Amino acid sequence: MNFGLLINFPTDLPIKITKFATQIIYRRDTMQQVKLSENIYFLGFNDRRTHLFENIWPIPHGISYNSYLIVDEKVALVDTVERQFIDDYLEDIENILGGREIDYLIINHMEPDHSGAIKAIKGKYPNISLVGNKKTFGFVESFYFKPEKYLMVNDGDSLGLGKTNLQFYMIPMVHWPETMVTYDETHKIVFSGDAFGSYGTLDGGIFDDEINLDFYEIEVMRYFTNIVGKYCPHTQRAINKLAPLDIQMIAATHGPIWRTDLKWILTRYNKWSSYDLEMGVVIVYGSMYGNTKKMAEVIARRISERGIKNIRVYDASKTHSSYIINDIFKYKGFIVGSAAYNNAMFPNVEILLSTILHMGPKNHFLGIFGNYSWNGGGVKNLKDFAEKINWELVYDPIEERGALKQDKYDECLKLADAMADKLLNG
Ligand code: FEO
Repeated sequence: MNFGLLINFPTDLPIKITKFATQIIYRRDTMQQVKLSENIYFLGFNDRRTHLFENIWPIPHGISYNSYLIVDEKVALVDTVERQFIDDYLEDIENILGGREIDYLIINHMEPDHSGAIKAIKGKYPNISLVGNKKTFGFVESFYFKPEKYLMVNDGDSLGLGKTNLQFYMIPMVHWPETMVTYDETHKIVFSGDAFGSYGTLDGGIFDDEINLDFYEIEVMRYFTNIVGKYCPHTQRAINKLAPLDIQMIAATHGPIWRTDLKWILTRYNKWSSYDLEMGVVIVYGSMYGNTKKMAEVIARRISERGIKNIRVYDASKTHSSYIINDIFKYKGFIVGSAAYNNAMFPNVEILLSTILHMGPKNHFLGIFGNYSWNGGGVKNLKDFAEKINWELVYDPIEERGALKQDKYDECLKLADAMADKLLNG
């Protein structure tokens, strides 16, 4: 049964219905067009299928890929989308342009979640000029094709489209070396690439004033810490570079478009990227038989008794490092415990710590502890981590063998006290 034939559309509905044999084809040329201004269109797609962003980071609430189309005397596309959306993306563009060509494809960032449709765009609009900086086109060649028609821009360069004037600002390593932003000085919009983006699909609401920001609070921060967190100094430089601009809207390549409460996102980015940490402790353990876990529980309880309210205890085997890293970027204390595993660290703790070393967050107090049955390996490797990360170790490492006994119990209390003292008194 074709349910489409049973639907009785009023004739004034803006939907074109074409009868083809027994099928009805609903054309997308009446799509709900979303505009940032009278001539700037939002072209975003929600991904609710992908489980792991970059095949690493969990996205249980999905993610959006946002591209933008500026229609003026000249037409410019700002970034593209992930390649799974190419067909709909090309169709949506065609429906807006109605046969017009695209003059420029502005490439703020080359990671394939945004460059995935470049080849398709070039195929459909062969006269298009790619706009990027000196680092952009090497990426284009390595991923897709050798660009022949392109415009290389430098920091502060302008490009006029008619009434709309664009400027380009380099923000390297936010998130790749070639990354730049495009500033529409006519409409005061920054097309910011990954910067100020978020995990989480856009479930109807697209602009910040259309959504409940409580939902995005953790998704914005996880996106920052997981993807851009390694590049905090670069993010600070980017914020300072953009600060003199009159910005009334921030259009990132993921998540909501910020047009009402820009302070909400800007203050958070500034705080996170400057390692402005809150009083609190993240305690992570890797435990097979519960003995390392028991030590973590003792330490957590004592820290609570000392008046610290923000304490997050994680089992490294259960909670993905995406979430733990997020809290490490939030709280100043970090205590990690590992059982020995085949003369080495517990594997899931090792994965977390290698991620922390890779991202290199700063300004933390550190405590370490562990447990073993027949040979060491956990605490030994935690000490190596402590040396590499170079955070302030608040107490000597504690290592128990098997069940927690009185002397090491007392040591756990002392470690907790040392951490509390540091947090409370600096
Ligand atoms: Fe959303 Fe670095 O790409």
